[in-house]
Amino acid sequence: MVIAIGYGMAMVQILFTHGMADGKFGLSIEDIVYSYYGNRSGSPLEGKLNGSMKANAPDESRFKIIQWVRDGADKLQYEKAIKPIFEANCIPCHNGGTSGLPDFSRFETVEKYARQDQGATFASLTRVSHIHLFGIAFIFMFVGLIFSLVSGVPVKLKAAAVVMPYVFLLMDIASWWLTKLNPHFALLVVIGGSGLAMAFVFMWVISMYEMWLLPRHLPFADRRDALRRA
Ligand code: HEC
Repeated sequence: MVIAIGYGMAMVQILFTHGMADGKFGLSIEDIVYSYYGNRSGSPLEGKLNGSMKANAPDESRFKIIQWVRDGADKLQYEKAIKPIFEANCIPCHNGGTSGLPDFSRFETVEKYARQDQGATFASLTRVSHIHLFGIAFIFMFVGLIFSLVSGVPVKLKAAAVVMPYVFLLMDIASWWLTKLNPHFALLVVIGGSGLAMAFVFMWVISMYEMWLLPRHLPFADRRDALRRA
């Protein structure tokens, strides 16, 4: 149950980060391309100011920053008009503290984020990939182990369901790297992610059903029939 709640949280997290990449709520192919390949017609600063950082500054201040970015992110102009906006709205969080967020009290950092948006960096992809490979592999080891004990599913289907998450996990991670190189692979991210979710829902629902809903006193054949009917 905790893993199912965790899965739900992961979905919400995706909505709030990747889902906002194109500035509109909800997940789209556009979001995936922006997240991995980048929005090559804009900068991360502008992207975030129209996306998940939108609520952190009044519109007028956001437009000033965006205009400054488009005008070439000039340092003199920054000192004159932009720095106070950052100090008031952004630096409370982006201050180089322990949060790991980019430190916008340094002009060099602001400037870096004002350059063209190249999407995910290879460093961040490596970080997220290894966390996902280790973490999700273990989650599905336990989900698969529990599922392997169900009685009403033919063995071949069972084996396929246990293996599926690993196939989709590898596809999912590979697709991030491919999308970083070429935006056409964004669809593969959707397929990998949906496959993973479907494999999870399938195993979870059947395991929970057999553990907690299916009558226990029935002999094996009747249990299997009851499951088939369900
Ligand atoms: C309440 C705290 C908070 C405030 C205030 C805030 N941010 Fe953020 N910012 C975050 C968090 C948390 C993230 C990481 C999650 C995300 O990307 O949405 C982030 C991420 C970012 C990123 C992406 C960083 C990266 O490594 O890709 C940019 C750019 C950014 N913020 C710009 C701004 C700007 C500009 C302002 C001021 C208008 C601002 N933020 C105000 C918390 C904050």
